[in-house]
Parts: sequence; structure tokens; C-alpha cells
Amino acid sequence: MHDFCFRKNSLYCEDLPVASLAKRFGTPLFVYSSKTIIDHYSKIKAAFKKLDPLICYSAKVNSNLSVMKLLVARGAGLDIVSGGELYRARLVNCPAKKIVYASVGKTDREIKEAISYGILMFTVESLPELARINALAKKLRTKVDIGLRFNPEVKPKTHSYIVTGAKETKFGMDADTLKNIFLRRRSYSHLNIVGIHIHVGSQITESKPYLAAIKKVKILVQQLSREGISLKFFDIGGGLGIIYDKEKPQTAKTFAEKVLPLLKEISLKVILEPGRFIVGNAGILVTKVLYLKDTSRKKFIIVDSGMNDLIRPSLYGAYHKIVPVNKNSNFEFRNSKLADVVGPICESGDFLGKDRDLNVKEGDFLAVMAAGAYSFSMSSNYNSRPRAAEVLVKNGKAYLVRRRESYTDLVKGESIR
Ligand code: LLP
Repeated sequence: MHDFCFRKNSLYCEDLPVASLAKRFGTPLFVYSSKTIIDHYSKIKAAFKKLDPLICYSAKVNSNLSVMKLLVARGAGLDIVSGGELYRARLVNCPAKKIVYASVGKTDREIKEAISYGILMFTVESLPELARINALAKKLRTKVDIGLRFNPEVKPKTHSYIVTGAKETKFGMDADTLKNIFLRRRSYSHLNIVGIHIHVGSQITESKPYLAAIKKVKILVQQLSREGISLKFFDIGGGLGIIYDKEKPQTAKTFAEKVLPLLKEISLKVILEPGRFIVGNAGILVTKVLYLKDTSRKKFIIVDSGMNDLIRPSLYGAYHKIVPVNKNSNFEFRNSKLADVVGPICESGDFLGKDRDLNVKEGDFLAVMAAGAYSFSMSSNYNSRPRAAEVLVKNGKAYLVRRRESYTDLVKGESIR
């Protein structure tokens, strides 16, 4: 469910017509619905109520400060992966004890900053990282809580780039490595190993891979407990899929019903790291049709957003629904139904959608749906294109929560020598 709906022939975000937002703020424009964000967060919270988990919204998914604040203000913690995300977490006053920090490549600076802030725990992904955090904690004369990321060797059905729980990926450690670390835990004098973490992948529509991974964690936790080792936290990561096209993803409720019995048996404080589920369908990218190009081979709808604004179609072949913001009766492409919606970037891989049936004319606005997750946060300045503006609709008003970049923003920090 989301709050982008047509009323008569016009697309609305909550009670505001998207076309007027596009006119007011310009395009390309990301528009987010706070109502949808809060609704999706509440759905996860309600589904897992019995466990009273810590829900750490995954900041990488949409790290706009206002989006993060919306969730933090409602009790969410944050899953971070960089010093930059820690900086953002601090700006939105996320309590340190609600922050978990994953990433296979934490730098010394990032580790020190997170130790100083006093985060809940680091998720450690390798032996050398374990040694590094231990050494830095020693230097800072403190003891640090960490969780170990377990690679459960399961392969969910999703794009290969976003499978993270399979053996051949760079993430986490196998069961034997984990057991050895626990058995040798006293050699890490400045670490408390308090948790175990999994994240099997993203855009996962079924519970099967989670169940397989959680079962493996259960066995591991039981083995450790026989050795007298007890833990506090079990972080089951994120990954819940959403509807882009014809997917039929599990709901938060059905997902919870499936995993709750196992989680109860494991009996550790559960941490969740949802991202896409909360914000994916809570955002759209509004773009303007610049030209209609008809060639002997193909038709193109050329718009003012490209792969620099939304790279998911180019990078993963991801499908995003594209709809006219105002459905009108202009049939400029009447004879040539299907067209590729492409951007201005100088690459043939620069497209937002292929073979779409759209009736548009120059100057029309199009909405690329489900662009709340991994969209602005993965955008770039490629082709020296200023990044888009972001608007948050909240309590009946539209707030510019990130202004459009200017040409001077583009060259900020550069010098001519
Ligand atoms: N926790 C960890 C450790 C993660 O690596 C991720 C996402 C999440 C949580 C949040 O996962 P979610 O609930 O959003 O599925 N750029 C790709 C997705 C990359 C996923 C990266 N990790 C895309 O656009 O589909």
C-alpha cells in the first residue's frame, strides 16, 4: 500500500497533486510520502510486537535526513555502513545504543568515531577486522560490543548483485570461523562478542531463505551455549521485498508469522534492519518529457532524468512502473505504441524503462514509481548533472528536504592547477 494514487486523471501524493509539486520545485524531483513511510514502519513494528525487537532502519536505502528523522522520532534505530551515515545518524539525534554498524571495509577513522559515539554494536565481517577493532578499542582504553556476521550460505531468489548470504559473496564468515572466534574470544581483550548477524540479501519475496538461515543460527547458538557462551542479540538483517511490477511479496505479518516461532526458540533480543520495505513504495521520481524521438528501429521518450538520478534499471535491469502524472488524451505515439523511456546521459544503458506503452507529449510529467529506495541514495553527478531535489509530503504540506544541486555544488572542492 502507498499514498500515490490517481484522483480522476491526476496523480496525487497524499492530498497534493504531483503535477503542482513538479511545477513548484522543478524536475527531476523525488517526492516522498511521510504517511507511507510511517505506515510501513508501523506494519513491521506491529508484526513483530511479541518480540519487541529493535528496528534499525537501513540508512543506505534513503538517507535523506528528514526521512531518517521521521523514523528515529518514532523509536527506530539505524543500521549504518559508513562514517558518513554515522554523521547523518548524529544529525538526526539517533540514540547511540540504537545504532548497528555493518560493512566489510570499515576504516580506522570510521571505527574510532563509532566507538567514541558508543554505538550498540559493530557487525564484524572478517578476522582482520576483528583484530583491528580490538586494537583500536585498546588504544582508546575501552571495551567494545560487537556482533559477528554469519554467512549462512543460502541463496535467495533475487538479482545476483544483491544476494549477500551466499558462500561466494564477500559478506560475513562461515560457521567454523565463527565458532573458532567464540572459542578464542578471550584473546580479544577489548571486545565483548554480544551478537550474531545475518543479512541474506535484498528484495526477497519469500520467507524460505530466512528460515534456512535462522535454522543455522539456531544450531550455532545451541552449540555455543553448550560451551557456556551466551549472546544478547540476534540481528536478522533486512531484505523484505516490495512490489515493483507483478511481485507478490510476503507481507510483514506473514513474514513475522513464519519466523517468530524460530526466533522465540533462539530467545535473543531481535534486531531488524529493514530498508526497502519502509521507503521503497513511499517515493517517486518525477521527470519531464523533453523530446519524442521516432527512429526507423525504435521510439524513445527522452526525459530529463537519467541513470545518474536512478541507476537501478541500468545496473540491475530493475523494473519501475512509469505513469503519466496527468493522464491526457494526446496520442503522439499512437501508431507506435511501445517506447523506451531514456535519459540524457551519454550511454546506451541510460534508460528508466523499456518498451513502455505511454501516451505522452513534450512537456508532460512522468512518474517513475517505487523510487523511494536505493534511488536518490545511489544517484551521482555523472555527466556533470546536478542531483535532483527531494520533497517530503507531511501533514498536507510539501517540504523541500533537499534543494536541487547547483552548478557551483558540482565543482565544490575542486581546484584548477
Ligand atoms: N542490512 C544490511 C546489512 C544490508 O546490507 C542491507 C542492504 C539492508 C540491511 C537493507 O536491506 P533491504 O531491507 O533494503 O532489502 N541497491 C540495491 C539493494 C542493495 C542492498 C544493500 N544492502 C537495489 O537497488 O536493489
